[in-house]
Amino acid sequence: MAKSCLVCTGPVVEFLDLGRQPLSDAFPAPGADPAREHFFRLALGRCADCAMVQLTEVPPAARMFHRGYPYRSSGSTVMREHFARVAERLLADRVDPFVVEIGSNDGAFLRTAVERGVRHLGIDPSGDAARVAAGFGVRVRVAFFAEPLARSVLAEHGPADVVFAANTVSHGPDLGSILRGVAALLAPDGVFVFEDPYLGAVLANTAFDQVIDEHVLFFGARSVLGPLRRAGLELVDVERLPVHGGQIRFWAAHAGRVPASPAVAELLAEEEALGVHDPARLRAFAARTADRRRALVALLTRLRAEGARVVGYGATAKSATVTNYCGLGPDLVSAVIDTTPAKQGRLTPGTHIPVRPPEAFGPGRADYALLFAWNHAEEIMAKERAFTEAGGRWIRYVPEVRVV
Ligand code: TYD
Ligand code: ZN
Repeated sequence: MAKSCLVCTGPVVEFLDLGRQPLSDAFPAPGADPAREHFFRLALGRCADCAMVQLTEVPPAARMFHRGYPYRSSGSTVMREHFARVAERLLADRVDPFVVEIGSNDGAFLRTAVERGVRHLGIDPSGDAARVAAGFGVRVRVAFFAEPLARSVLAEHGPADVVFAANTVSHGPDLGSILRGVAALLAPDGVFVFEDPYLGAVLANTAFDQVIDEHVLFFGARSVLGPLRRAGLELVDVERLPVHGGQIRFWAAHAGRVPASPAVAELLAEEEALGVHDPARLRAFAARTADRRRALVALLTRLRAEGARVVGYGATAKSATVTNYCGLGPDLVSAVIDTTPAKQGRLTPGTHIPVRPPEAFGPGRADYALLFAWNHAEEIMAKERAFTEAGGRWIRYVPEVRVV
């Protein structure tokens, strides 16, 4: 029987199966009981009624986003600047605004509000991340955002002039509750800005590793229209973003309050022309994904036979999908390098490759670096120039498998 759509309850038709997978941000300690790792089936489907592309099985949110959730939004300089820039833009021209961020993590976005003395509130279920944010003066309520919580924020602080969310709205299985909450909280002339992986970019780049437990919904302009409308909101602008391998920023407002930019109709037309939500295009993406697995496994197997030392770079959530889908363990990838203290000394989810700090990397320490954090390629390759200059090579698998 078909799964029912998380957004409209219509029938969901599966098109991509990435197999049994662990939670992508759950890094076990060495020697931890393997039976405690939570596995689920990672697969993507498309709703035949509303076209929303979505996971067909979603692990419980509280297992993914909890006190010790290790992801940090500020782990990249490029991303810190990205968030500071959008915050400056959203706060300009507003008199004494109140700003709410859903999924405030370590305060990468709200730090700008603090610096400018702007009233703000972050909402995030991770207590550890909230503590980092608090260190920068950011106020955080440790909770999941949903309609009831939005009403309590409204009662306590009044309406929000700006609601911002990055890589959060697409994580929530209950999109309806999030959007109704935003609509309740948002001032009459307020703006709701959210940015998430863009389905069109995932397809164009064959970025199959964007499919992880936390990315529950893959938005296109077409598929967010209905959910926004049902919450009394309207899409008024869209922007394509280069970050994280291709994202989209949606601007929404209360219906009828703000004239829509021509960019909305343009993107809808482009999606139609490219067939971004078409079942055939989604099936072709699944076929290319299988090709990437074959090519990557063949390359790494050959390098092992040649005695080359391969390490991974970036213990990303995305890398859980790659390593588990392709069966990459410590025999093919001896370690994964990552700057995040909460990941170092631990093992990659499911595949148990040791995570090491950047000090364990460099000229003479490895022959090949498999770039799991390909979305931060420029920043990482600039930082690790000494490795490349000493003859180290980088392996990419998005958009194609190749050695650079
Ligand atoms: P990211 O690609 O932002 O997200 P996700 O985990 O959702 O796939 O994760 C980047 C990871 O790469 C993060 O664990 C930090 C790490 N990283 C480095 O180790 N060095 C760097 O220079 C950068 C930019 C990131
Ligand atoms: Zn649907």
